[in-house]
Amino acid sequence: MSDNPYQNDRGNKDRSITNKGGSTIQEVDRRFGNSKAKQGDPFLIGDAMTGGYGKGPDILHSCTIAAEKGEIAVIVGPNGAGKSTAMKAVFGMLNVNEGAVRLDGEDITHLTPQQRVVKGMGFVPQTSNIFTSMTVEENLEMGAFIRRDDFRDTMTQIYDLFPILKDKRNQAAGELSGGQRQQVAVGRALMTQPKVLMLDEPTAGVSPIVMDELFDRIIEVARTGIPILMVEQNARQALEIADKAYVLVQGRNAHTGTGKELLADPEVRRSFLGG
Ligand SMILES: Nc1ncnc2c1ncn2[C@@H]1O[C@H](COP(=O)(O)OP(=O)(O)OP(=O)(O)O)[C@@H](O)[C@H]1O
Ligand SMILES: [Mg+2]
Repeated sequence: MSDNPYQNDRGNKDRSITNKGGSTIQEVDRRFGNSKAKQGDPFLIGDAMTGGYGKGPDILHSCTIAAEKGEIAVIVGPNGAGKSTAMKAVFGMLNVNEGAVRLDGEDITHLTPQQRVVKGMGFVPQTSNIFTSMTVEENLEMGAFIRRDDFRDTMTQIYDLFPILKDKRNQAAGELSGGQRQQVAVGRALMTQPKVLMLDEPTAGVSPIVMDELFDRIIEVARTGIPILMVEQNARQALEIADKAYVLVQGRNAHTGTGKELLADPEVRRSFLGG
């Protein structure tokens, strides 16, 4: 796409599960010796993560998910498999007892979610991912909370990517359709100009046509070089667009491969794709 608007761009209420570190990024860097990436590390990796919520049992068991530059990585698996938990672990919303999270060669395991946003992570959670009483434009402005520079160009790019949002810029986000709300949520995350975008079920509750449109937009973002790490319940369609795919079952990696490989895997087909 030559008129790609993202060219040259690089974004729980349950407080008990959130890293509460009061440390600055610099302090954390110092404390953890700014540990270097392993050779051949993907751009973003949650590596062999084990952990759960608060003092509860482990939900993740040596679970690994990762995203490479310019690629779309997809996480699929049954309800309750720990897909959202794995995403939250990568974003720093729960502590991992074992394993690490590395971004662009840097160990960020002990950073807070907000510090991870500053480092370049954009995250769209599965639920409560927009401010429904605020307008579309106010939602995008909220997304730019860490920016001190002029973010109007980014907003223009997001309106180019999702033209309907421009039409509805002054409407309360809560009045929008499911697909449009998801566009607001993705747009909000893009406002920080993230280096990697994490999406938890971006097509939940939308029609197949809207799902295809959203996937097209996500592919467009990925082509600009922003890696995408995405949980999807539409497993077959998601695997079709996935460069890399992870099937999680009970907090563990059950199958890993390219989207094509998993689509062709008889076991994956039988268990997760309805034959
Ligand atoms: N805030 C929480 N506190 C305690 N346990 C939780 C919390 N959120 C999820 N869990 C538990 O963690 C396990 C994994 O849930 P998770 O939401 O990660 O699954 P999922 O794969 O995202 O499922 P879905 O497809 O339904 O979104 C489940 O047993 C769930 O009950
Ligand atoms: Mg989930």
